[in-house]
Amino acid sequence: MSKDQYIIALDQGTTSTRCIIFNQKGKDISTSRREFAQYYPELGWVEHDPEDIWNDAIYTIKTAIAEAKLEGNLASIAAIGITNQRETVVVWDKATGKPIYNAIVWQDRRTSAYCHKLKADGFEKTIHEKTGLLLDPYFSASKLVWLLDHVKGARNAAERGELAFGTIDSFLLWRLTGGKVHATDATNASRTLLFNIQTQSWDPELLKIFNIPETLLPEVKDNSTLFGITAPHLFGHSIPIMGMAGDQQAALIGQACFDVGMTKATYGTGCFMLLNTGDKMVISKNRMLTTTAYRLNGKATYALEGSIFVAGAAIKWLRDGLGLITHASQTQDMATQVEDNHQVYMVPAFVGLGAPHWAPDARAIISGLTFNATAAHIARAALESIAYQTHDLAEAMKKDSDNDVLTLRVDGGMSANDWFCQFLSDIMNITVERPSYIETTAMGAAYLAGMGCGLWSDLSAIQHHWKQGANFISHMKEEKRKEKLKGWQHALKQALLQEE
Ligand code: G3P
Repeated sequence: MSKDQYIIALDQGTTSTRCIIFNQKGKDISTSRREFAQYYPELGWVEHDPEDIWNDAIYTIKTAIAEAKLEGNLASIAAIGITNQRETVVVWDKATGKPIYNAIVWQDRRTSAYCHKLKADGFEKTIHEKTGLLLDPYFSASKLVWLLDHVKGARNAAERGELAFGTIDSFLLWRLTGGKVHATDATNASRTLLFNIQTQSWDPELLKIFNIPETLLPEVKDNSTLFGITAPHLFGHSIPIMGMAGDQQAALIGQACFDVGMTKATYGTGCFMLLNTGDKMVISKNRMLTTTAYRLNGKATYALEGSIFVAGAAIKWLRDGLGLITHASQTQDMATQVEDNHQVYMVPAFVGLGAPHWAPDARAIISGLTFNATAAHIARAALESIAYQTHDLAEAMKKDSDNDVLTLRVDGGMSANDWFCQFLSDIMNITVERPSYIETTAMGAAYLAGMGCGLWSDLSAIQHHWKQGANFISHMKEEKRKEKLKGWQHALKQALLQEE
């Protein structure tokens, strides 16, 4: 039998769950992916069925194992790494493991008024200093409060210690270990608004502000450590879970951005740009977030983060909402069909706007339409809008840190689009680097699990694996760039009018 060892990376994202198996050289040997249902029960609400998430996790793991022909050789699977959509909240019954309500997704805006009230009551400063985050419905705490106050009997059951709260990583860990482990990792905890990123622990003052019973909370662990062991009946063999991280932090690791100043942007459902600030917790003055990038051997590394809520989701809307395309890749051809955007701009504020605006009530617009506008202009405007937003994040980060973003490592679905990468480089006037392997989120989870079980010694061993695939250098004339950005700012103002 071969002595090869493998790592399972489970990447539970906002619209799909995928499982990728990597060998000890960091090469993917099998992949399984499944999209799942999104529920929009009311305007601005977004929910997932946690049972779908659980079933798809098991399905994709088993399918990837079968595809890799490892069913008869399960002992060669050294570890599992989990990465996940962050902030999304699940509360379940500790006795039965059953969720008390659907998962409330990070994009959900139902707690907007509650967050406005806390802001008006003057809590944002304390919250910002302790968590690095802002008072926005995006983060977990207000969603957890909603569940406790709206699901019958939930608050009392929580106070009796009968319920467990977790982000998706924590829920999957509980289920995978057969209800034995209630834990999360430092990166996921950092997105809840309840975790003090300086002391790296749940914060009593924050729990008081949100009125959250402590009994609900999971234990917070480093990113690369033994989280638990899968229940034997699940795969016919117990596999240790040795790595866990929120998907954006996992992508930072997969992109090997370990030096201060290194920056990545991941284009999934949304776009999340993280700049490594090392052991320095840079508190933003420009509405960026400060977050734990990773915590290894008890030592936290921090990042500045810019969060854009809609990136790939805008392209999905072109496909599913407008029927303009049948496949995301068509946008590349459409964008090149037209010489310019013809002054057509899209502001994809479908679920409000994230950084640096934090405007939950803003809504999407397409502006500048004339009879000359075609489907190609709209597709191009959608792609351009993601690049303009990334530009705005980099500008804010520049003001916050001593580091100018000169090179941006990109990954995620949209980074496969050459036209988009070139436009991004042009509009930001920087070099855009795309790695040869763009599933960096899963890769990051695999690295964490692999470090946990000794397959890779440390971050420097991982750094050697990163390989450049393509490099995009800016060609746009300054005048043109300025003109385009001016048009974008104008459109942005119109979308923000709805917030006022
Ligand atoms: O913070 C939300 C983020 O983790 C979601 O990531 O990849 O599902 O867009 P993604």
